[in-house]
Amino acid sequence: LTVDWDAGHYDTGGFEHYLLKEISDQSESVARTLSGRLDGRFNIAHLGGLNLDARETRAFRRVKIIGCGSAYYAGQIGAQLIEELARVPADAEPASEFRYRNPVVEHDTLYVAVSQSGETYDTLAAVQELKRKGGRVLGVVNAVGSAIAREVDGGVYLHAGPEVSVASTKAFTSTAVAFALIALHFGRVHDLSPADGRRIVEGLKKLPDQIQEIIKQNEAIEALARKYAPHPSMMFVGRVRGYPVAREGAQKLKEVSYVHAEAYPASELKHGPLALIGPDMPTVAIVPDDELLDKNLTTLGEIRARGGQVLMIGHRVPDAKLAEDVIVVPKNEVELDPILLGIPLQLFAYHAAVALERDVDKPRNLAKSVTVE
Ligand code: G6P
Repeated sequence: LTVDWDAGHYDTGGFEHYLLKEISDQSESVARTLSGRLDGRFNIAHLGGLNLDARETRAFRRVKIIGCGSAYYAGQIGAQLIEELARVPADAEPASEFRYRNPVVEHDTLYVAVSQSGETYDTLAAVQELKRKGGRVLGVVNAVGSAIAREVDGGVYLHAGPEVSVASTKAFTSTAVAFALIALHFGRVHDLSPADGRRIVEGLKKLPDQIQEIIKQNEAIEALARKYAPHPSMMFVGRVRGYPVAREGAQKLKEVSYVHAEAYPASELKHGPLALIGPDMPTVAIVPDDELLDKNLTTLGEIRARGGQVLMIGHRVPDAKLAEDVIVVPKNEVELDPILLGIPLQLFAYHAAVALERDVDKPRNLAKSVTVE
């Protein structure tokens, strides 16, 4: 069961759809998520709403992130950020699975619930179960005063503004940014050096302008979406930091264009899904300029050798033999790259949906917020 969608009094601001408006809005929405939270003196993030002092923060041995749909994928980016910057083991799990498997709730694990609406029933029920068992739960939530925001012990509001289109875009990006702030905060309480803290603070400040650079490529991305949309199925691959980006990219395409899309870790292709690759199944590959670049380029070669087309999302144009098409995204710090790499995929899914004449803002069978079981 789902609740229905209501655009309320917000208009599309001259855009053809809410989805395009919300994608195009992200320079401002990310600036709002960051606003007042970066401190260049100590190279830290100010997140007073967490309600955790330094001693409590240090006492947590693990972080467990839960959410549904895009909130879960953004949580996966968040878990990687926390592990990288704070060196605290972290992972993400769908809230819907978590709540049904009678989870072991540990006193030295910090739980984080992620939700744009703050009303998703599976996430809310997981939070209530955690609290009942004495778990410490934070929220990363967009809707102020929502049910999940009221239930948690503290957290971070996204301030992304209202998101109307069913497919989440600006809330997804702002969630990843909020986790970068949390990871910076935790990192500086643990062993992240002031110099690395500064690197992340400076990287975060660059995001709004860099997002604008990506949005300016809208027309080129539209042409690519029109080219690939007629294919019945697409593969999305990425390694480590690129993998949650690939999952969210596939999710967006499925949701709004109804094109079948699979997401796999690039390293897993040879363990099964490579059998699907051929002229009928193009691959979108997330290939950031990080320590896994060479491994990723080898994967592209394997796909091309099987006649698969490749659309690469990355920071440079590789040898023409490796990718037929490339979307180049501005480079940031390696840990923050996933935040930007996901944005062209939102435009790609949007334009594929328009090309296929789908109900872009209200895809069939889906609701913005699933508030019942
Ligand atoms: C629904 C929406 C998704 C969304 C998910 C979680 O399934 O269709 O786009 O990611 O709920 O929503 P939440 O509001 O909890 O982030």
